[in-house]
Amino acid sequence: MATLYSNIASLITCSDEGLGALGEIRNASLVVENGRIVWLGEQHDSPACDEMVDCELGTVIPGFVDSHAHLVFAGNRAAEFEARMNGDAYAAGGIRTTVNATRQSSIDDLTRNMKSLVDEMHAAGITTFESKSGYGLSLETERLSLEVAGQFTDEVTNLAAHVVPPEFKDNFDGYLAEVIAPSLSRDLHRWVDVFCDRGAFTIEQTRQIFTAALAQGCELRLHAQQLEHSNSIQLVEEFDIASVDHCTHMSDHDLELMASTSTVATLLPGAEFSTRAQYPDARRFVSAGVPLAIATDCNPGSSFTTSMAFCLAVAVRDMRFTPEQALLAATRGGAQALRRTDVGHLTVGGRANFVRLSSPSYLHMMYRPGVPLVSETVIDGHTIYRRNNVA
Ligand code: NIG
Ligand code: FE
Repeated sequence: MATLYSNIASLITCSDEGLGALGEIRNASLVVENGRIVWLGEQHDSPACDEMVDCELGTVIPGFVDSHAHLVFAGNRAAEFEARMNGDAYAAGGIRTTVNATRQSSIDDLTRNMKSLVDEMHAAGITTFESKSGYGLSLETERLSLEVAGQFTDEVTNLAAHVVPPEFKDNFDGYLAEVIAPSLSRDLHRWVDVFCDRGAFTIEQTRQIFTAALAQGCELRLHAQQLEHSNSIQLVEEFDIASVDHCTHMSDHDLELMASTSTVATLLPGAEFSTRAQYPDARRFVSAGVPLAIATDCNPGSSFTTSMAFCLAVAVRDMRFTPEQALLAATRGGAQALRRTDVGHLTVGGRANFVRLSSPSYLHMMYRPGVPLVSETVIDGHTIYRRNNVA
C-alpha cells in the first residue's frame, strides 16, 4: 500500500544531492511504501497512490537522531536543580543520588520510566536515539540497565565508567576489575563511554577502560571537557572514538586535534542551560572543520529534557549555530556520531523516518521556542506519535 504525504510547504531531506545543504524542496510530496520512501519531489509530479495524507502546508524533516541520552534511571533531581538556580554549582557527585534511587528500583520500574521518556522523545520528533547505562554502577545493576535500554534501542552504551561508586571510593583498580571489565562483553551493548572529567575518571583511567573495551569488540564514545579543560582530547589520536560529547571547554589545539580525525563533537545545549554553564561557540568548531552533532543529553541531573526543538533553539541563540547547521547537526550529525548512514536524511529507497511539523518552515522550531510543532512522527512508515488535534 503506497501512501502519499501531500501538500508539504517545505520538505527538508538533509540529503546532499545538490539541493543545498538542507536539500529543501518546496511545495513537495513524499510517497511511502513498506516502510521506505519510494518517491519524493515536487507536488505537481506526484504519482497516484492508494491513500493520501494532507500535510496542510506544514514542513517535513528527517526524524531527529539523538546520539546522547541517559534514559535508564529512577527518581529525579529537581531539588538539585533548584539549588543550582539559587546559586550552587553543578558537580559530577550528584550522579550518586540517582544511583541510590536506581539501585532500589525493579527492572519493571526502570522499564516504565524509560518507556515514558521514549514516548516523550517520539513526541519530540526523535526517531533514533542512543541510551547509556551508568546509574547502576554495580555489575548487576549495570547489566540490568543495559538490558532495559536494549528493549528500546540498538544504540546501547555501557557507561559503567560514569563515576566511581562509594563502595569503591579511592579504589579505581577494584572498580575496573570487579565491575567495569566484567560488564563489557558486547552482548548487551554496542558502545562504551567514559566520563573523563573532574570528579569522574582521569585520562589514564579512561585509557585503561577503552583498551579493555576494544578487546571486547566494543566501539568508543567519550564524555569530556564538560566541567573543565584538560588534555583529554589527545585520546582521539590514540583511539578511534566516534564522538566526544559536551566539549564545553575546548582550546584551539583541541579543535585541531579533533579536525585531524573523523571524531564528531556532540554539543549538548540542555546541559549548559540546566547547569548554567558557559556555552561553547559552534563557530569555532565549524571554522576548525570539526563535524558537529546536537543531542539532548536527557538525564535527571544536568539536562532533563527530551525536546530536541528546545535544544535547537538554545543552539542557535546561545551556541551560535546557524539554524541550518543546527538542523543538520540534530539529524545527519547525530547519525554520524552514531556511525549510521541509514538515518538522519530522507532519500528515495531509504527508511521512512520523518517528522511532520505544523509550521510552514523548520525555522519555527527555533523561532517559536517552547511551542509544540510536531504533529506526527513516523518510523519505518508507521505513525508512532500523532498530536491529538491532527488529522
Ligand atoms: O552527560 N556528564 C556526565 N553525565 C551526565 C550527567 C549525569 C548526572 O548529573 O546525572 C551528562 O551531563
Ligand atoms: Fe551525558
